[in-house]
Amino acid sequence: MSANAARIPGPVMNAAGCGGTGRELAAYGDLSALGAFVTRTITLTPRTGGSMPRVVETPSGLLHAVGLQNPGLDRFLATELPWLVRQGARVVVSIAGESVVEHAELARRVGQSPGVAAVEVDLAEPDPPAWGLLETREPIASALVATRVISSCRRELPRDVPLLAKLRPDPVRVVDQAYGLLEAGVDGLVVGHALPALMPDGRSGALSGPALFPVARRCVAELAAAVPDLPVIGCGGVGSTADAHAMLDAGAVAVQIGTALLHDPTAVHRIAAGVGGDRRHDTGGAR
Ligand SMILES: Cc1cc2nc3c(=O)[nH]c(=O)nc-3n(C[C@H](O)[C@H](O)[C@H](O)COP(=O)(O)O)c2cc1C
Repeated sequence: MSANAARIPGPVMNAAGCGGTGRELAAYGDLSALGAFVTRTITLTPRTGGSMPRVVETPSGLLHAVGLQNPGLDRFLATELPWLVRQGARVVVSIAGESVVEHAELARRVGQSPGVAAVEVDLAEPDPPAWGLLETREPIASALVATRVISSCRRELPRDVPLLAKLRPDPVRVVDQAYGLLEAGVDGLVVGHALPALMPDGRSGALSGPALFPVARRCVAELAAAVPDLPVIGCGGVGSTADAHAMLDAGAVAVQIGTALLHDPTAVHRIAAGVGGDRRHDTGGAR
């Protein structure tokens, strides 16, 4: 296990993109009470995001096509990150780039900024070409790109800043991906992202929410059995303290809460209080 494994924040945090850059979520609870605050994915240049509607309910969860709306790295570092640090939040910065070089630049500049608890590389955007991102999904050629992205980010980050990779919750491939990323220098995984889906009007989008929970949990269990030294953060459909415990019992070191926050903006604080009240799952990470 890497020395950074113990520095991975936990046990309960929001999922990327489901708490904005913090100001939105702070209206509903103290950000410093969470294991960490995970930012929306930050790209080198600002993105205005996709067209409306961006979010549509399904019987099993949520379809969305936000299109990586974010203020871009310069503004994030100048205003949003310092604001989050002033709130006392342990900040996990989610990043995504259009090339290996861009990922390296994002990692270098985020890593040089004070108050960053970890960096999470979004390797699983449901439609990278549509969002103008580097394609890091399977087949094999793109898996190789993912390991190059991770090794370039690891080179640019200070040694003591944990590097996380966020993957698609694909129980068939996730263990093979994990071996490659571990070799490339990753300290932990987030499993996982929303699944590629179609919006009702035919645009590319993604599926999140309760439908993902058993799939993500299966990924966590597969990883815990096959790569026990690699910490895994379980994400996908966690909506209650019982769900969080089930994910932790499957082998996750922490959980992230996404879609549940769109129904109830207090969900992550409620679940953090529930799990925190039960010290079984205190990771002792960067608090
Ligand atoms: C509205 C919305 C926006 C999201 N934006 C991002 C994002 O910017 N970066 C990212 O890595 N994941 C993003 N996600 C995916 C979530 O972080 C999470 O991985 C996924 O939704 C599964 O968790 P959940 O079922 O708890 O929502 C977004 C999800 C939703 C619902």
